[in-house]
Amino acid sequence: MPGLVIVGAQWGDEGKGKVTDLLAERADAIVRFQGGNNAGHTIVRDGEEFKFHLIPSGILYPDKACVIGNGVVLDPRILLGEIDGLRRRGVDMNNLKISANAHLIMPYHVLLDTAGEVKLGKLSLGTTRRGIGPCYADKALRLGIRVQDLLDEKILRAKIRTALEPKQQALRELSVKRRKLRKEAGEGSGVSEAEIEDAPDPRLDLHTMTEEHVNYGHRLEPHIADTSSLCWDVLDAGKTVIFEGAQATLLDLDHGTYPFVTSSNPIAGAATVGAGVGPTDIDEVWGVAKAYATRVGAGPFPTELEDATGRHLLEKGHEYGTTTGRERRCGWMDLVALRYAVRLNRMSSLAITKLDVLSGLDTLRVAVRYRSREGALLDTFPYHQSILHSATPEYEELPGFSADLQACRSADALPPEARSYLDYIAEFVGVPIRLVGVGPGRDQVVWLS
Ligand code: IMP
Repeated sequence: MPGLVIVGAQWGDEGKGKVTDLLAERADAIVRFQGGNNAGHTIVRDGEEFKFHLIPSGILYPDKACVIGNGVVLDPRILLGEIDGLRRRGVDMNNLKISANAHLIMPYHVLLDTAGEVKLGKLSLGTTRRGIGPCYADKALRLGIRVQDLLDEKILRAKIRTALEPKQQALRELSVKRRKLRKEAGEGSGVSEAEIEDAPDPRLDLHTMTEEHVNYGHRLEPHIADTSSLCWDVLDAGKTVIFEGAQATLLDLDHGTYPFVTSSNPIAGAATVGAGVGPTDIDEVWGVAKAYATRVGAGPFPTELEDATGRHLLEKGHEYGTTTGRERRCGWMDLVALRYAVRLNRMSSLAITKLDVLSGLDTLRVAVRYRSREGALLDTFPYHQSILHSATPEYEELPGFSADLQACRSADALPPEARSYLDYIAEFVGVPIRLVGVGPGRDQVVWLS
């Protein structure tokens, strides 16, 4: 498996961290190739819980290179917090390598993300407000600040100055500064309207920002590297690199449910761009899907359940966002969407997580086609958003199971209904299921041949 990509097959939070952690045992390097600290994965090791937003799941292996690739956008303050937190828990951070070409999420990106969402009001996308969209926008505008810029104060200051000016203007227009200051000053603080209007936001001060980021640069310097050539060396030696995607296929900027998507490409093809390797370096693509479906944030979700079954999935599956703590929307497995994800990523294997959460439901439903508002049957995921927004799913019903799966470790130990459910999914989408999650622990998996 020299080049193996792991992607989310639904709307995110499928449990990619756990699958990466398991497959990483056989890998030599693990590389994140897109997204930022909008992601969050939880790994439970020996009863201890680790939550990551930026650092790839491979960090718990001291002998493997753990890489933040050029396609990632990183908030240095958050990254340093994660590094410090892991160090305090005794995790060796020497193998963490950060691409010098990765872009930085700056304080103004975070402010702009929030301001944009506030401005959209009822039409907001439900972003994680971590500055992801504005940062990728600056990258495309050629106004981005990169990790390597942290190492040269003169260049850094000049780049921040250039990038900052239009942001200050945009934020002024969105009047976020004014509202924020008023709130911070509070009633009776003696701060006048005029002072509020004119006061510069301390987070947007060029000198403070430059100084802070020079300090971040000093601390990150030992980790900054040419990460593409690191991947080439590992691959050329016939060893294995895992390319770890964040978010998921249906949140892909080009192929997801635009505009309710993230600002990067979480699909397998993007691993080449976001890590700096060639398409023929990829040998395997693993998709990770939950045994049901969830989504955070706004946007179409055909199989969403707003009833007792949805509640069952939310509560039994602890479906609250790792990054924002928001309740996730829950629904039945959508095989039309999954088959679309399989094809977009040309998946070679599937991992199905959280099968145990379905236990206790008498009947399981899987969407096998949609019906459009006009009554047409749709076997494929509609490319036109108006059709998708009004499509209703048509379901196949399968028998449920009541046994607790958390102790199952082999296919034989699974109830026959659970096995039939998995077989149905694999056959429908045409990809073998190789791994099934039956609980949060690292060992709570069933490997299928
Ligand atoms: P952004 O990535 O913060 O710009 O948010 C855009 C959309 O992607 C929103 O609907 C978010 O809820 C969603 N999103 C971003 N990251 C994740 C993730 O890691 N899991 C699930 N949804 C995510």
